[in-house]
Amino acid sequence: MNLPGSPFLAVQDGRLCLDGHDLTQLAHQHATPLYVYSRQAMLSALAPYQRALVGRAHLVCYAVKANSNLAVLQTFAQAGCGFDIVSAGELARVLAAGGDAAKVVFSGVGKSRAEMAQALQAGVRCFNVESTAELEVLSDVAAGLGLRAPVSLRVNPDVDAGTHPYISTGLKGNKFGVAHEQALASYRRAASLPGIRVVGIDCHIGSQITEVAPYLDALDRVLDLVEAIEAEGITLHHMDLGGGLGITYTDETPPAADALIAALLARIDARGHGHRELLFEPGRSLVGNAGVLLTEVMYLKRGEHKNFCIVDAAMNDLMRPALYEAYMGIVNTQGTDEPTDTWDVVGPVCESGDWLGRDRSLAVKPGDVLAVLSAGAYGMTMASNYNTRGRAAEVMVDGAQVSVVRERERVEDLFKMERLMG
Ligand code: LLP
Repeated sequence: MNLPGSPFLAVQDGRLCLDGHDLTQLAHQHATPLYVYSRQAMLSALAPYQRALVGRAHLVCYAVKANSNLAVLQTFAQAGCGFDIVSAGELARVLAAGGDAAKVVFSGVGKSRAEMAQALQAGVRCFNVESTAELEVLSDVAAGLGLRAPVSLRVNPDVDAGTHPYISTGLKGNKFGVAHEQALASYRRAASLPGIRVVGIDCHIGSQITEVAPYLDALDRVLDLVEAIEAEGITLHHMDLGGGLGITYTDETPPAADALIAALLARIDARGHGHRELLFEPGRSLVGNAGVLLTEVMYLKRGEHKNFCIVDAAMNDLMRPALYEAYMGIVNTQGTDEPTDTWDVVGPVCESGDWLGRDRSLAVKPGDVLAVLSAGAYGMTMASNYNTRGRAAEVMVDGAQVSVVRERERVEDLFKMERLMG
C-alpha cells in the first residue's frame, strides 16, 4: 500500500494505524466522519524547521488557517512557536490555546478597524500590511489608542510559485501584497506615519510549493528591496519569508524543510544579511500529513460508466477535492476479501462536485472504514454545514493517549442562532 507523507502512518497486522492507533477502531469508537491527528507527527514535522534555524534569531509562526483546533495550537505554542493569523477569530483561538500574542504576526488583505484594535490591545508582534490604504487606517487606529503598530509590508515579488492558481499569491495578478515597484514608496510612507513603527519585511508566494527555486527568486527580490529600504535609513529588524512548503499527497517530492531553509540561509549569508531575524509562516507542511479523515462506506453503486462508492463524508467535511480538484490518497483502513475495482468515492451532498476521489482502485464493501490521507491541513478549517450536515469530530492521539479535541456538531447546534418570523 502506498502511504505518502508521514512515517506515523503505517499498516500493522493488516490494519492502518496512526502513531500506533488502529484507525478502524477509532472510527467505530467515535463514529464517522472523523478527523484524527497525531501530535507527535506534528512535532516531528516542526523539528526540521527548528533544527535548521538553530543559532539564528528566528520565529516559526504556525499558519493557523491550516488547522485551527485549539489542541493543535496548544501543541505548537508549547513547542515555542509563534502564530500567523488572518482574523481576530484566529487571534482569539491562539490566546485561548495558551499562545503568546507577542509571537503573533497578523496577515491578510482585509483587516477591519476592530480587528486592528483588538490585535494592538493584545500586543501582537507585527502586522503584515498588504496595501498603503491599510497602512493609513492602521496608523489611525493605533494613534487613536495612543500606540504605534509594529509593521512589515508584505511585498509581492512577482514570482511564479508553480502551484494551483487558487493558492498562488506572489504574482502581479494576485490581490496580495504591495507591488515590488511600489514597495519603496510605501515604506517611506510607513516611516512617516505617526501610528506606525516599521519592524520588518514580509513575503509569501503561495502554497503547496514543491521546488526551492521560487523561494530563492522571491528571496533575491526581497533582499534587493531590503537594501534599497535600508539605504534610506529605514531599519528592518526581521525578514518574514512566509509559508507555502508543499507536502506529498501522491508523488510530489517537495524539499525537506531543513533543506529549503539551508538553501535560503546560504543565499542570505552570501548577500551579507545573516544577522537579520527570520520568520517563517508554515501551515500545511506542519500538519497536512499528521491527519486523516475517516469515513464509512455506506453504499456501493455500480454503473455502466462509473462505479460509485458512497461514503458518509462529503465536500462539506473536506472541500479540497471539490474546490481545487485536489488529489488526496484514499485507502481502506482494514484488509478485505472483496475484489479490487475502480471507484469514484463520493459523499451524500447533492452536487456532482461532491467527490473525495475519482477512479480509485479499492477493495471495499459497505461498513468498511476508508481513510482520506494528508487531511490534517485545510480539512476541518474549510468545512461547512452545507446540506445541514454537522461538522465532524476531531481526535488527537499522542503516545497512548487519545483525546476528543472537538465534539461532533449536533443538528440543534446548526440552527440555534436562527429565528422564526414573529
Ligand atoms: N502565510 C500566509 C500569508 C498565507 O496566506 C498562507 C496560506 C500561509 C502562510 C500558509 O501557507 P502553507 O504553509 O499552509 O502553504 N486552502 C488551500 C491553501 C490556501 C493557503 C492560503 N494561505 C489548500 O487547501 O490547498
